[in-house]
Parts: sequence; structure tokens; C-alpha cells
Amino acid sequence: MVSTTLAENPLREGLRTWRTPQPGTVVVFGGTGDLAQRKIIPALYDLSVRGLLPARFAVIGTSRRPESDAGYREQMLAAVEKNSRLGLNHEIWDSFAASLFYQQADPSDANGYAELCTKLAEVQEQAATGPNKMFYLAVPPAAFFEIAEGLGQAGLARQDEGWSRIVIEKPFGYDTVSSEQLNAHISRHFAEEQIYRIDHYLGKETVQNILVFRFANGIFEPLWNNRYIDYVELSVAETLGVESRGAYYEGAGALRDIVQNHLLQVLSLVAMEAPASFDAETIRDEKVKVLRSLRRIAPDEIGSRVVRAQYAEGDVGGRRVPGYRQEDGVAPDSMTETSVAIKASIDNWRWAGTPFFIRTGKRMARRVTEVAIHFKPAPHIPFAGMDNDDLPPNLLAMRIQPDEGITLRVGSKVPSPTLQVRPVNLQFLYDSSFLVDPPEAYETLLLDAMLGDHTLFPRADEVQYAWRFVDSIRESWRGSGLMDSYPAGTWGPVEADGLMLDGRLWREP
Ligand code: BG6
Repeated sequence: MVSTTLAENPLREGLRTWRTPQPGTVVVFGGTGDLAQRKIIPALYDLSVRGLLPARFAVIGTSRRPESDAGYREQMLAAVEKNSRLGLNHEIWDSFAASLFYQQADPSDANGYAELCTKLAEVQEQAATGPNKMFYLAVPPAAFFEIAEGLGQAGLARQDEGWSRIVIEKPFGYDTVSSEQLNAHISRHFAEEQIYRIDHYLGKETVQNILVFRFANGIFEPLWNNRYIDYVELSVAETLGVESRGAYYEGAGALRDIVQNHLLQVLSLVAMEAPASFDAETIRDEKVKVLRSLRRIAPDEIGSRVVRAQYAEGDVGGRRVPGYRQEDGVAPDSMTETSVAIKASIDNWRWAGTPFFIRTGKRMARRVTEVAIHFKPAPHIPFAGMDNDDLPPNLLAMRIQPDEGITLRVGSKVPSPTLQVRPVNLQFLYDSSFLVDPPEAYETLLLDAMLGDHTLFPRADEVQYAWRFVDSIRESWRGSGLMDSYPAGTWGPVEADGLMLDGRLWREP
């Protein structure tokens, strides 16, 4: 998150004020891969359209295959044409393309790093980018170790002149132990302040707005606790299946793929205490306290607190789709969950007794990510017995995607001679209020990493505590054989309803 004043930074865009990063070079490992083509290069290009890249800036794409600078530019042109949010502008592309370079490098070959050093020096000279450099690891997690090592051995992690940063994509490990190992390994060469862990949910405007909504408005914070909130619901529902990622997904499952990172990050923003200031360490300190207070799930609670399931054949968007076990790369007796619902508890003064219901799933009825705050009913309803018994309590729904916005449900009198009360919505929509498209999460995160702002990047301890919670569930599942099922295109397994008692229901927004 970039916070500066207009006086310091004359470049203004929309309602935000930005500063531009210092000159530097971004090296993308996996430079021709899917992530680079879909997200990273288009996001950098879009930043250049927005005038947010430094004038002296370069990108070096690397991968195993041989390619020339010109060939790389051509490939990236196609990627930008297809995936840029702002669309291709030939003039801007020409100047952006002049800052794109390519170096063949095999991450497992130590000599490759010496060649990369040579290329980096050439580019730094040619594009006058100076000594600052950022290494983006858009590669499978197995390669994180050797790249961090190779960079370290080649002296590329040193910051004697200018900064050196490393950006890594999730998954940060596979469980608590492996994430500690990964961290220890990267830390041999890069200090924590040089490491940027990408969780793209934190780059979403609507996720950032959770903090602004909570702490820029005095009226909600006094109610934001177990005295007034009955329960909190966090959902990430997708209509997509595992697509071509069956092999990866088999080793991940919904718990690792979405809960460990995206959902627990959102939960920590919803549940954290007010930070004394808006700097990265203060915010991350508060988030980590929430993750530490998340009660681990004991083996004897697994049945009452967690439901896991797989999608079966069903209809999504009018199309018949196969069940998870029939997907490519998936074992016919797979025990990998495509949906998980959890009743979580945060053991602290603010939240004791207020459950957090967390749910995610692939092939659900709609694509929707939402935070729903369910308030307790008014202590006394004076209209009872007047056909108003079913008046639902107040609800605050923060829609992260799509139809980004915030809705507050309140009771209102129906215009009629009798005293009838019905729920109505007070609504704010990003679309109509700001009339601009929010930036892609990767634009925000790349810019912040180049600016050296860690606010939107999970710190090592956050990742560790999130894994401990997730591991407590996985350990309880071990050998349990529990696995429910839901038809593709529905809101998940009916068994998940059993986690909510006392008239509470999962939303189907
Ligand atoms: C990724 C997961 O991190 O997030 C994917 O690996 C998932 O499985 C994706 O589809 C969802 O992101 P978004 O931004 O579309 O909600």
C-alpha cells in the first residue's frame, strides 16, 4: 500500500496519489512461463501505461530455453495483447519493449548465475538502471531453493550498492516444517526485509479496503467484537474446476490452496486490532497476533468443526462437467478435498465466543468472494407479534469479487398503514462510486515490492502460524476417511450446514 503526499509526489492517478519506484531491474525466473505471460509482464506493462514505472527500468526474463531479446519481446507482445488490463497502446509498448531483455538460464546450473550477472551488468549499463534489482521467482516451488542459493552464491543478494529483493509466489512450503525449511534456506542469503511473499488476495483493492472500512470509520469499530457480532462468514467460491492443474491440485487441496493463504489473510484483516500506524510492521504485527490466536483443531473436534468434500459430476453454467475424480491428473480414489468448510475460533478477548465460518470450494454455484459480518439481533424488538417475527438481524456484506462493494442490511418500515418491517440494503458499489476499474492485484503488488513497501506481503511468522492451523486439520484428517461430496454447480456439501447451529445458515450470495 503506497502512502505519500501529493506535495512529495506530483504524479496523481484517479483518487490515489503515487510515488514511482527508484530505477532498477526486475529479473523474472520463469520469464516465459504461464504466470509471467498471464500476470507479471502484463502487470508491468499496465504500470508503464499508468506512468508508474521509473524512467530507467528494465526486465530480464530468464528460462531454460534459448531465446533472443527480440524473440522475447515478440512473445511478450502477444502476452500483453491478450492479458493487459488496459489494452495495447503501440507507442507505449515500443518504449516498454525496449526495456525487455532475455537471458537463458537453468536454475540448477551454477554457471548460469555467472552469465546472469554478466547480462545484468550489460542491461544496467545499457538502460542506465543502476544497481537496484528484484528477482521474481515465477517457478514451481521446488526451484525456490536452488535459485535463492544460486543468487546468494553469485553475490546477487548483497546490498552493498542499491537494493536486492526476492519475490516468491505461493505455496510457501507444504506444511509447517517445509515452510520453515524454505524460510531458513532463503534467509541464508536474503534478510526478511529483502523477501516479498506474494499472496495476490492482498493486492485486491477490496481486500485492502477491509482495513480502510474498519479504521477510517469510527462507527463500526465499537461494534466489531463478540458483544455485537454473532458470527463471521468468509467465503471463496469458484465455478472453475481444477482445469489443467489436476496434478498440482492433488498435492494441495482446498485447504492448502486457498485457506492457508488467501482466506486466513482475509480473516486476519477482519479480526485484527486497530494498528497504531499504517506501516508494514505494525500491521503485520497485528495480523500475526490473530493467526496465533486461531484455535487449532483437535482430532476429536474434526467432525464438528471441519467438513471436507469433493465435487461430483454436475452442471455449471449450463454445461455438464465431470466430477473431481474423473479430472485429468487426478487419482480415481483421490482423497484431496476440493471444498472445505471450517468453524474456526479466535481465542482472544475480542472474539471469544464468536465463530468464524470459513468456506471455499471449486465448482460451486457462483464465483463469489465475500466477508459477511452477522450482527446479533436487537435485544428487544418492539414490533414482535406484528407479522415481523422473521426480521433478520443486521448484516454487513463486504463483496471482494465480483460486483465489488459493501452492503449493510437494515430493517425498514414498509410503506403501508400497518407497522410492517422488512430488511432493505444500504449499498456502496465500487463501479458507480469511483467510475474506474480497480488495478489488477499484480500491478499493486509489483509496484509495492519495487517501492520496498511490505504492507501487502505476508511476513514469515504469519505464514508459519497459518500453517500450524492448517496442519492441525490435516493431522486430524489423517486416516479418518472423512470425505463428503457435492454435485458440481451447487453451494457445497449439505454436511457443511451441520457446522452452523442455532438457525445460522451459509449465505448463497
Ligand atoms: C490461486 C489458487 O491462488 O487462487 C487457484 O491456486 C484459485 O486455485 C485462485 O483459482 C483464485 O484466485 P481469484 O483471484 O480468481 O479469486
